[in-house]
Amino acid sequence: MTECPDTEQQPPMLAEYQACLAKMQHDAAVGRFVPDLFARTCHRLATHRQGDFPRWFASYQNMPELPVQSVRFDTPAVTVLGHISPQQQKDLHARLMELHPWRKGPFDLFGVFIDSEWQSWMKWQRLAPHLPDLTGRRVLDIGCGNGYYLMRMAAQKPALLLGADPGLMPMMQFWAVEKYARSGACVLPLAMEELPASMPVFDLVLSMGVFYHRKDPVGHLLGLKQYLAPGGRLILETLVVEGDAMTCLLPAGRYAQMRNVWLIPSVAWLVNLLEKTGFRQVRCLDESVTTFAEQRQTPWMRFHSLPQFLQADGQATVEGLPRPRRAIISASL
Ligand SMILES: C[S@@+](CC[C@H](N)C(=O)[O-])C[C@H]1O[C@@H](n2cnc3c(N)ncnc32)[C@H](O)[C@@H]1O
Repeated sequence: MTECPDTEQQPPMLAEYQACLAKMQHDAAVGRFVPDLFARTCHRLATHRQGDFPRWFASYQNMPELPVQSVRFDTPAVTVLGHISPQQQKDLHARLMELHPWRKGPFDLFGVFIDSEWQSWMKWQRLAPHLPDLTGRRVLDIGCGNGYYLMRMAAQKPALLLGADPGLMPMMQFWAVEKYARSGACVLPLAMEELPASMPVFDLVLSMGVFYHRKDPVGHLLGLKQYLAPGGRLILETLVVEGDAMTCLLPAGRYAQMRNVWLIPSVAWLVNLLEKTGFRQVRCLDESVTTFAEQRQTPWMRFHSLPQFLQADGQATVEGLPRPRRAIISASL
């Protein structure tokens, strides 16, 4: 794992992936997948079409070396503590702001508070009491964004925290935080379809906020099954609509201004589909309406957010569809 096999010029971020995948090589179950994961990561980094990537990479490279005193993964904001000067704080703030928009978080790095669009700790609070003990376990987070939840799980010292997300911006945010947080997690810049089709080694697989973006919901669930070790648990979190086992919403156009929403199930519909695709012990852990407290505009995410996606009375989306509500479902193999 020294260089990318399919490209002459070695892509940015290679060193980070060499390091995190090298650690995984020693894992008895995951080790055999590492050369393949490395080749796929190289390919993605070498062939991406994201014009802003060099700019984000430059911001990351220019992040200052700072003295870390301690790190907290068990607080609502993933927190890195250490004394730095006002000038260092200003520099750090500027570099992090270059990675705008911060959708997931918050993070507090040396007193620079990244107030992300989503108060992700609220979802974490709904989920965490239901998770098994993760000590020594292997976790895969599909669509992990900038790795906020992987870092929250780092508090429990799992054996492996692997994430996959095709977004190069959230990936750079992950590495920016990880430079100081040292959670040991690894976020691969890969969509689920770009991972090996079968890696049945994970004790916990999360797919949060991905299901409704997929054109093929059955394929998504069958794909997730291929990552679970025998007895492993799936956490599936998604937008849902109210209704019975016959109900799901296929938005004709956008949903809450999002272009890429294909299918929003009811909980009963989704439970049915999980059981039909071979999962057991399927249960809904939480169902909540998304509030303006959880998703809103901030200086770290200056684009439109939930308040602009809803009609004035807050009862429906601007398209006249049911306002966002989300469910967390647990299922086992
Ligand atoms: C709504 S965000 C959810 C982020 C995080 N999981 C959470 O719950 O806050 C959806 C994420 O899924 C990622 N995503 C979209 N399609 C994906 C795919 N096919 N495989 C993996 N991730 C995907 C997006 O890049 C985005 O970061």
